[in-house]
Amino acid sequence: MAYSWFKAFHIIGFVVWFAGLFYLVRLFIYHAEANQEPEPARTILKNQYQIMEKRLYNIITTPGMFLTVAMAIGLITTEPEVLHEGWLHFKLLFVALLIGYHHYCSRLMKQLAADECRWTGQQLRALNEAPTVFLLVIVLLAVFKNNLPTDITVWLVFGAIILMAVTIQLYAKKRKRDKEKLTAEIGQIAQEQS
Ligand code: HEM
Repeated sequence: MAYSWFKAFHIIGFVVWFAGLFYLVRLFIYHAEANQEPEPARTILKNQYQIMEKRLYNIITTPGMFLTVAMAIGLITTEPEVLHEGWLHFKLLFVALLIGYHHYCSRLMKQLAADECRWTGQQLRALNEAPTVFLLVIVLLAVFKNNLPTDITVWLVFGAIILMAVTIQLYAKKRKRDKEKLTAEIGQIAQEQS
């Protein structure tokens, strides 16, 4: 019974953790792109994003990580034999990388607050695909364990995710180009009228 409780809250924990991670980097994108806005909008937006990022990181994302890890410790102490399983060793490797990503996000948050972040909105969009890969690999390992399938289904799932990521990047690029074109047109009209 304890094992099922730990597992239920382990799942709730990583849903919260990932919701936080995905939204956090989306806020970083808006924060970085606020630099292109004229004053006073730039300062107002940047201050607002800074508050939102801090709250999201401290109240949702980090507690989600601690809940996931605490419940995982509960699972392992209830059934310690799981520690000998190969799938868990692989999973732990990806979880370690995920925790590294989590801490890197905290560094980016501080750099954005200090106006020292060198990442562009486009690069941050690409970075925001990383948790998708972690989520996919870790959940597949947790569910299939040592029988992780390598057939066409897995490749189709990976292909669909890569296609989705590329489409998001291309769409963002198109929106940026459209916005620049519109700004140039507005500038030209204003010049003609003055
Ligand atoms: C500290 C790191 C982690 C450890 C040590 C750990 C360990 C475990 C263990 C021992 C189980 C029980 C397996 C079973 O009874 O079937 C489990 C289940 C699960 N874990 Fe983790 N886990 C960790 C992090 C994560 C993360 C980050 C995710 C999601 C991205 C995740 C997703 C899952 C899922 C979906 C299950 C349920 C699998 C099933 O019932 O079929 N785990 N985990």
